[in-house]
Amino acid sequence: MAPQISPSILSADFANLAGDVAAISDVADWVHVDVMDNHFVPNLTIGLPVVRALLKHSPLPLDCHLMIEDPDRWAPQFAEAGAQSVTIHAEAAKAPIRTLRTIRAAGARSGLAINPATPVEPYEDILGEIDMLLLMTVEPGFGGQKFLDVVLPKVRRARELIKGRDLPVWLQVDGGVSAETIERCAEAGADVFVAGNAVYGAEDPAEAVQKLRQQAAG
Ligand code: DX5
Ligand code: ZN
Repeated sequence: MAPQISPSILSADFANLAGDVAAISDVADWVHVDVMDNHFVPNLTIGLPVVRALLKHSPLPLDCHLMIEDPDRWAPQFAEAGAQSVTIHAEAAKAPIRTLRTIRAAGARSGLAINPATPVEPYEDILGEIDMLLLMTVEPGFGGQKFLDVVLPKVRRARELIKGRDLPVWLQVDGGVSAETIERCAEAGADVFVAGNAVYGAEDPAEAVQKLRQQAAG
């Protein structure tokens, strides 16, 4: 699949979300929305009401990354609200298969995320339940952190597992993805790239997205 870019609005201006989404809407594929509850991660960000509002204003589909406890309760509501992709954390979900199926049944793409130190192999048998596997390349919670190179071998292994099963699962990397690191991620097999600081920290966010895409395409 051609590389896709999902700019994270965690690094955008929270008082001007519609404007910051519009700034990248001609060049990006998704808008990455980081939902944090101050329990699963030590930060508090956006919730369902803001996602509902964004859905009305965003020309791009929303890629909602739920860094929250009890995703089994909340994820279906994001999907029912109209979010086009909903990703839950394996470390937080108590009934991941049921929740992933509920997300799909509501018409959204289902995503499963794992933290840098969580192995991918235990999830091999449920790859058929998901549309996207998200490998965190920083510890979740904050934008602007340093990319963790130690995750790259796992990106490679995940790509092999997906290929081995011949599944159309997208492989997303999130955290510290930038002009310096995106090529290594693409080479390891990632095809969906989240970038917060590298996009919204740039003088021209749209140009930054285009450059990242070119680099990811190799
Ligand atoms: C971190 C979030 C990321 C974050 C990425 O917990 O999940 O999506 O916004 O930001 P950068 O690209 O700045 O590392
Ligand atoms: Zn994220």
